[in-house]
Amino acid sequence: MEVKKCKMYDDSSIASDEAKIHIKKLLQHLNKKDWQDTLLFMLPQLSFNELNAVTNSNGRICSDVIKGPITILNSIVKDIKERVPFNAIFPSERLNLPTSGENSDCDPNITIHVDEFLYNDNDIEELLNAGKLQQYYCKNCGSKNIKSLIYISHSLSQDALHYIFNHLLPILKDKTILDIGSRLGAVLYGAYMYTDAKKIIGVEMNKDFCELQSKIVHKYNMQDRIDILHKRIEDAPDTIKSADVIVLNNVFEFYLSEVEQIQVWQFLRTTMTKGTIVVTKPYIEETLKHLNTVIKINEWLRRIKEPQGSPAPNLFCMPLADEQGKYSDIASYEVL
Ligand SMILES: C[S@@+](CC[C@H](N)C(=O)[O-])C[C@H]1O[C@@H](n2cnc3c(N)ncnc32)[C@H](O)[C@@H]1O
Repeated sequence: MEVKKCKMYDDSSIASDEAKIHIKKLLQHLNKKDWQDTLLFMLPQLSFNELNAVTNSNGRICSDVIKGPITILNSIVKDIKERVPFNAIFPSERLNLPTSGENSDCDPNITIHVDEFLYNDNDIEELLNAGKLQQYYCKNCGSKNIKSLIYISHSLSQDALHYIFNHLLPILKDKTILDIGSRLGAVLYGAYMYTDAKKIIGVEMNKDFCELQSKIVHKYNMQDRIDILHKRIEDAPDTIKSADVIVLNNVFEFYLSEVEQIQVWQFLRTTMTKGTIVVTKPYIEETLKHLNTVIKINEWLRRIKEPQGSPAPNLFCMPLADEQGKYSDIASYEVL
């Protein structure tokens, strides 16, 4: 019985090696556009390691044709768009619009929720040009007295993920990354694509989002390193303690009352362990400014001023620096 199992395994690995050779040959004969279409069709069947087999002689993924993780992330985006409403907010969610702080102007009548992971700047421009999104609202109907609508994203953009994992953070080989409030899973997929972290954990209190993440993780064979926990972070102290890196993208402001936000920040203050790296958007100083948490940030966290990532070109030949100050509201800290 055991021998048979081994043989089957051997046969299938020979077959897959042969398949790779055929696929490589096939791809060599396609033009750039057809390459991309074909890969978008094939990617959900490939794991990241298998994808690495499609490299050129320098060992780099053929970046003129396929931008590795970007292509996979784009494919994931396409899948998620088919599964969520346009504003990426599930009916099961109860948004709690802020009444104090920077975002207290988010009146539901003039606030549009557009998810940056699903729609990048170019997509938004296209939607605006096509009249599918509006940029302004009229303060006195019929007059030219117009004002910009407020755009809110509840996920990190692909560019921001690239910046965080390739530039801001050090190499995370064998480390554990925790995303608190993992929502669509953007941080989880970004961490999977851009790092060698041993474990990537998403904690999310909304069941529908956990199910969505789980479908994507399985479709793209990421379950070897990604775990999804359907719970409130307050109920996961051991997960917090196990993390080397914790990502907090404006996680509580739109979802919890001010009293709950104060409690959860105090819980994080006492639960995170010394040496953990914390990535926040916006700066934690900004988030806590209008909450009466009595947390002394400088006794809890030390801001890491210099990006820890290597400035050398990475495998996918992507620009690394925050050239236009696009990510100036993202900061990293070390827990003291
Ligand atoms: C702004 S989204 C962050 C999305 C994701 N981390 C990213 O950057 O793309 C915040 C998410 O946190 C979840 N959330 C809020 N409070 C939570 C809590 N106490 N425990 C677990 N999840 C929470 C919300 O349901 C929401 O999906």
